Amino acid sequence: MSGDNSFVVVANRLPVDLHTAPDGTRTWTPSPGGLVAALSPVLEHQQGCWVGWPGVSDEAPEPFRTDAGVLLHPVRLTEADYEGFYEGFSNASLWPLYHDLIVTPVYHREWWSAYRDVNLRFALEVAEVAAEGATVWVQDYQLQLLPGILRQMRPDLRIGFFLHIPFPSPDLFRQLPWRDEIIRGLLGADLIGFHLESNARNFLDLCAATEGLTVEGNAGTRRTDAHVVTHDGHRVAVGAFPISIDAASLGEGEEGGVDKLRAELGDPETVILGVDRLDYTKGILQRLLAFEELLESEALDPATTVLMQVATPSRERIEQYRVARSQVEEAVGRINGTFGAMGRPVVHYLHQSLPKSELRTYYEAADVMLVTPFKDGMNLVAKEYVACHGDGSGALVLSEFAGAAVELNEAHLCNPFDLESIKRALLTAVQGLAGAPEATAERMLAMHRQVAEYDVNRWADAFLTSLEETR
Ligand code: G6P
Repeated sequence: MSGDNSFVVVANRLPVDLHTAPDGTRTWTPSPGGLVAALSPVLEHQQGCWVGWPGVSDEAPEPFRTDAGVLLHPVRLTEADYEGFYEGFSNASLWPLYHDLIVTPVYHREWWSAYRDVNLRFALEVAEVAAEGATVWVQDYQLQLLPGILRQMRPDLRIGFFLHIPFPSPDLFRQLPWRDEIIRGLLGADLIGFHLESNARNFLDLCAATEGLTVEGNAGTRRTDAHVVTHDGHRVAVGAFPISIDAASLGEGEEGGVDKLRAELGDPETVILGVDRLDYTKGILQRLLAFEELLESEALDPATTVLMQVATPSRERIEQYRVARSQVEEAVGRINGTFGAMGRPVVHYLHQSLPKSELRTYYEAADVMLVTPFKDGMNLVAKEYVACHGDGSGALVLSEFAGAAVELNEAHLCNPFDLESIKRALLTAVQGLAGAPEATAERMLAMHRQVAEYDVNRWADAFLTSLEETR
């Protein structure tokens, strides 16, 4: 069983979602999330094959090539798979566990069984499309069993695995009833990549404490000095590869777009922006509460300040996501009710997915970007904002618990669990724009240099070169 693709990426989602209108017309729209944003340009560059789910149950259109030359190979998930594998094990067990229990993970045996089945199905599809000796790059927490299954089916393949979310400390990971199976699944890869050295260290510590595994070396960034050796002698390289963005994919800003947007907002002095998937890990409510308290204490003036919050719909049937959404929307309503005026809300809130070109105008228009997740693998929104401020304008408020804080340490860092800390960082950022313009610009320019130098191509090259070296 083998196909003719020498480079295959496999992720739970394809880079586009299939939509069927009430009149039966089918269209493809870009999928949400940082994984797709980062990988799309890499695949286009390599003209590879992308295996993934088309975003709706019970549909698997025939494989097709995108205009950019990427071969999309859809995998069908049934409604039962969607519930057990996607909403259940991936997003109600693993997601909260790997994000340090911001909500309590739920473990169900039926979900686990669906996760195993779906990983097997993905493996069968990959085995069918991958050429002899192909490079297969497996993405993220939904497919952690895939490397192990694939290695058994197709020992000729070179298998890389990259985790786009944090990897928790061994103490937390050990809650997982199927921890040994997940570790074994991952160790089917030749190279396992994480965003941060701290994530890689958590994984290596876990392996070191697992019977039958030996750990050699220490985790490094864009290096593979560390290895896990399994009981049958298979050596798995482990390293940190901080993901980044493709500045070009943000496009050119619309001529006059920023002025137009600011005029629509009522020409405020200060525009603050948040852009997130609507996820409880992102700390959207906390940032609204911090903003509300600054309005209450008159540290910020609602006549001259607006907050724009774009919240992309995500995983909407899962209870904790519904709760997060209703809390956010209640806070938006309350703040506008108290501090807005007719036709002049102080919080402009969208629960929509926006095209990149529009987002670019928002990023450019924002004086302060608020990125306050409780825990985040990297957070590419922070990097996108920085990429749009190569002139040194703007300021970034960034959670210490976002992976991006390791590289963007010139941001105004805050602890999102501490409202006073968010308030302090936001106020310092706002005041710095007028009060310390040179220092503010220096901070932004330093971050811009980092993002320009370490873009998504550097990330992909570093990972794929390390993977090639394991041959
Ligand atoms: C995060 C995950 C991705 C996921 C994306 C969107 O970025 O790391 O694997 O695709 O969120 O979430 P969704 O559940 O809609 O695929």
